[in-house]
Formats: sequence, C-alpha cells, structure tokens
Amino acid sequence: ELSPVDRAKFASAARAAEFVEDGMRVGLGTGSTAAWLVRCLGDKVRDNGLKFRGVPTSTRTAKLAREVGIEVITLDEAGWLDVTIDGADEFDGDLNLIKGGGGALLQEKIVATASDKMVVITDPAKSVETLGKFPLPVEVIPFGMRTTKTLIEEALGSMDVSGRDVTLRMDGDAPFVTDEGNHILDLHLGRIGNARQMALTLNQLPGVVENGLFIDICDVVVIGHSDGQVELRD
Ligand code: A5P
Repeated sequence: ELSPVDRAKFASAARAAEFVEDGMRVGLGTGSTAAWLVRCLGDKVRDNGLKFRGVPTSTRTAKLAREVGIEVITLDEAGWLDVTIDGADEFDGDLNLIKGGGGALLQEKIVATASDKMVVITDPAKSVETLGKFPLPVEVIPFGMRTTKTLIEEALGSMDVSGRDVTLRMDGDAPFVTDEGNHILDLHLGRIGNARQMALTLNQLPGVVENGLFIDICDVVVIGHSDGQVELRD
C-alpha cells in the first residue's frame, strides 16, 4: 500500500513516462520521485518493448536504471538529449526551480541544460509563490571551503532575501560528498527576491561550482495528486 505522498509521486512519474518514445535519449533525474519514473520506464522496457537510452544524473540513479533494465549511456555518448525528466524541491509560477535536496544538482543541471525539453515531476507540496523556503543548495569545491562560505555570506548581505544562514551539509560526522567529490552549502534564505540575480551572483564566486536554482530550464511541470489525478503546467 502506497502512502498518499507516494501515490502522488507515482501518478506524476507515470504521466511523465509518456514523454519517452522509441529511439529517444533521455535524462534520468535523481530523488524519490525520479526513482518512480525510472521504475515506470523499466516496466515499459520489459512489458511494452520500449527502446530508449538513459543518461543518469547520479550514481544512485545509474544503479537503479541498470537494475530495471534500462540501457545506460553517458551524456557525452548521447551528445544531446530529447528530454530530461527529474524531480524538484520547489517550483514557482514561472516554472523556475530549486533542486539539489538530494545533492545531485550539478549533474542534474548539466543534463537538463543539454536537453530539448525538461519535464519536472512533483507533488503539490512543492509549489511556492516565491522560491527560497527550501534551503538553496550550493555545490562548492572542498579547497578553501570556509573562505567560499564567507564570500557567499558577504554576497548575501546585499541580496533581497529574508534569511542569510549558511550551513554545511553533513553526512553523519563528515561533510556530505557529491558524486563529483565536492561539498554542499545549504543557504537558508526564506524568500529569494530575485532568483536570476541570485543564481548569477553565486556562480561568479570562486569555489562555487553550481547552485540549485534552475532558471528558464524547465518546460513542463507534472503535478501528481494522491487521488491519482495529474495536472500539467507549461
Ligand atoms: C536531487 O538532487 C534533487 O534535485 C531532487 O530532484 C529533489 O531533491 C527531489 O527529490 P524528491 O523527489 O525525493 O522529493
């Protein structure tokens, strides 16, 4: 028996799986909603003979995709993708996103940007008027990480936000390590007045590799509800 949240995630994943057609190269997102999608697509490969190649956005997703029988290739082998389907931590009315709660934002942004279309699979709880309630993940290289954190805090001083706390993401007693060997700083901003400016400002700081704001990247949001209904926004 699925919980209401899982029913909603499954409904959106099942609808989004319909975007995948024979011969496509497909970016496969990371997180619990994306895991439902990968399992749905695995079922279609097995039961309906769907033929496509998948580019995973994390080692976790790569492992699951192989387990369910999806042919996995790298982004460079694919060159360009027809569609990427991924979850998100927040989305707003302009389909801008916060991602990276699962720590895979860097590969996710590279893959989504290299796709003709990005489809985001979500549930209603992730809809916000203004991005920022979810802490904004920023991937930083380990070298000079404290200095990078200070630079970020200084930059936040002149930005339109309602909170400015920056915390290092932990994995037990040690800093969380991304697939690329980096760390994540979570920015507790409450409300990001100008998300575009925030994204540009952060990425200009040395030591910052990427931030979790996805601006003008997502084309369609598929919102699943726990009663199985699905809503599309584009
Ligand atoms: C992974 O890095 C994130 O960007 C995920 O897409 C996000 O955390 C959504 O995950 P859930 O589907 O588990 O909520």
